[in-house]
Amino acid sequence: MQHIEIKKVLAQEPSLHEITVKGWVRSFRSNRFIALNDGSTLHNLQCVVDFENFEEDVLKKVTVGAAISVTGTLVESQGKGQAVEIQVSKLEILGEADPEEVKLTILSPKRHTMEKLREQAHLRVRTNTFGAVMRTRSKLAFAVHDYFQKNGFYYMHAPIITGSDAEGAGEMFRVSALDPKNPPLDEEGKVDFKKDFFEKETNLTVSGQLEAETYAMGLGKVYTFGPTFRAENSNTSRHLAEFWMIEPEVAFNDLDGNMDLAEDFIKHVIGYVLEHCSDDLEFLESRLLEEEKHKPQAERSTMRLREKLEFVLENNFKRVSYTEAIDILKQSKPNKKKKFKYLIEEWGADLQSEHERFLVEKHFKCPVILFDYPATIKAFYMRLNEDGKTVRAMDVLFPGIGEIVGGSQREERYDVLKQKMIDMGIEEEELWWYLELRKFGTAVHSGFGLGFERLVQFVTGMGNIRDVIPYPRTPGNAEF
Ligand code: 4AD
Ligand code: MG
Repeated sequence: MQHIEIKKVLAQEPSLHEITVKGWVRSFRSNRFIALNDGSTLHNLQCVVDFENFEEDVLKKVTVGAAISVTGTLVESQGKGQAVEIQVSKLEILGEADPEEVKLTILSPKRHTMEKLREQAHLRVRTNTFGAVMRTRSKLAFAVHDYFQKNGFYYMHAPIITGSDAEGAGEMFRVSALDPKNPPLDEEGKVDFKKDFFEKETNLTVSGQLEAETYAMGLGKVYTFGPTFRAENSNTSRHLAEFWMIEPEVAFNDLDGNMDLAEDFIKHVIGYVLEHCSDDLEFLESRLLEEEKHKPQAERSTMRLREKLEFVLENNFKRVSYTEAIDILKQSKPNKKKKFKYLIEEWGADLQSEHERFLVEKHFKCPVILFDYPATIKAFYMRLNEDGKTVRAMDVLFPGIGEIVGGSQREERYDVLKQKMIDMGIEEEELWWYLELRKFGTAVHSGFGLGFERLVQFVTGMGNIRDVIPYPRTPGNAEF
């Protein structure tokens, strides 16, 4: 007999037909009630065994963490907490789990710290919290494709291995097939990458943007959704060395259109999970409330998780120029009272997450899009404004997260771009093809990058980015 997902079983009416379910034991009470979870839903299926009818040897092996198969009929539940339960007629142990060993793992039914769960990342998806987060992550990923595919975008696969540094920030992981102990050297005694696999220096991509731009200039509207890599030594709750980025790129779209797109897109994906992940979000919301009980009043959020998500759907993002934002920050209490770690003294200062969060959480109290940043603090490819000192950049800032999106209108003028590359020390040999786009049918175009994990963090309310990706890669950590 084929087994059925517990999610489907829980939606069924009681019936005399026998069904089979398979899953992992969450608990076994009174030698009678098995709580079984198969990952299809947050909810466990209660399986009732009349222990008189089963071999003691078999029942002994029904332990937390064990994989079992259960056959029986679905009946109305006598107990509270569930509408239906399975009256078990056949019980099979598929994979045992020694209780003595389980005791030492996060599978043991007690509270474990997030750090402990990270150390056992191969098991943590069997907890309610990680099950809920990862199911929501999956739905969000689908919602991303759903949005773009419905709106005429083509999904483009940007290369993972590249020879260029799209952000010009030099935070790259090298890719090489040379023997690190004995690399070939050139005449100057430097490593000779001409003898390497690709016959040049290569690295893991930091962004698919530049390649996406080439595709936007042929397919019109494209998006990437893939892994990106940054060797920045940031040990924060918002940074990963390997993260997934969504990068739409649109021909004939200017910065205003780009802001509209970012806002519409984010609202769509959040609306999608509100509709399709209600059980998991309800659980994550109660989890968050529980966690916040231990925090001082001032640090607790004013809105519940789903309220916060609905707020994003229902309100316009506030659009503010960098120059206005600097004025607000200069006049702000934390700046005057020297509460910011980095004080805002003059126009041109780079904004730190403390400033971004002040603007969003304290000043505007809603998502904010900052635009027209100083050219000096942004990447080489952003379009220069008429003032000659700001660029058509935009960052979307979210409560609790800070920057969730970074984007811009691209410099489409050949001469301006070329000069910018010279000024900023970007090697033309690596990006000849990028410059060439500006020679053959150049056009206004724009795009942005959204850090998928930061989005998952916002939606699930998880405080640390390490807890919204299955196997986080951070400085000093590449286990699993
Ligand atoms: O602002 P960033 O660096 O922009 C780009 O990479 C552009 N090429 C995007 C584009 O215009 N197509 O990164 C974009 C977003 C950030 O806003 C943030 O959400 C996320 O990517 N991000 C990270 N997420 C997790 N860990 C990191 N180390 C991240 N760095 C950036
Ligand atoms: Mg950025």
